[in-house]
Amino acid sequence: MPTDLSPIDKAKFAASRRAVDLVQDGMKVGLGTGSTAAWMVRCLAERVREEGLRLTCVATSTRTAELARSLGLTIVTLDEAKWLDLTIDGADEADGALNLIKGGGAALLQEKIVATASDRMVVIADAAKEVRALGAFPLPVEVIPFGWSATARLIEEHLAAQDVLGHDIRLRMAGDQPLRTDENNVILDLHLKRIGNPRALSLMLNQIAGVVENGLFIDICDTLVLGHPDGKVET
Ligand code: 5RP
Repeated sequence: MPTDLSPIDKAKFAASRRAVDLVQDGMKVGLGTGSTAAWMVRCLAERVREEGLRLTCVATSTRTAELARSLGLTIVTLDEAKWLDLTIDGADEADGALNLIKGGGAALLQEKIVATASDRMVVIADAAKEVRALGAFPLPVEVIPFGWSATARLIEEHLAAQDVLGHDIRLRMAGDQPLRTDENNVILDLHLKRIGNPRALSLMLNQIAGVVENGLFIDICDTLVLGHPDGKVET
């Protein structure tokens, strides 16, 4: 383990180190996005250097692709790889049924496409990301920039129809401009506090015109690897 890590980075590193043990020579591997996934990319690159593993990797964002390439990993497009053996990614929240909220790093669209094109999705996180019910973390929804405020209003109406009250929808900003995703879309963050039925909410959101994808990952994650600041790991 690198020295001088903060407690949270020790936890992220421990989960990452354990998850990359699942990677075997010849695999096609999806690489997630975020600070935990960045630790995983570093751990994976170290295994490739030390053990000479031959891997083909697909990144879930331009920043992950840049990091992975800078560390010597081979990155191809998902279309070139066609299908993946394993994807390892972080999450913003995970519940006991392995439902996730993702998209805190605005990469949820590519993350969901890559994860669902994989035989197995392993999620790595510090243990504080495990929750009883999803929703304390604002739910990111990627929408087309054209008419985003009308899309937000439709989301409001659908939430009210599902009796989800007291919510707040905010356009994610980067400085004084709306943040743009890798696909040049924008993100609406839904502050819901608690999501009673993640599956119903996900289906509802994805049928609204203008919504590209939402950050609820239902029936996608196969394994959750949680790291603790003392280096312990639970799966
Ligand atoms: C990016 C994501 C990330 O995996 C999620 O935000 C967790 O990030 P971090 O590991 O930095 O806490 O979904 O879109």
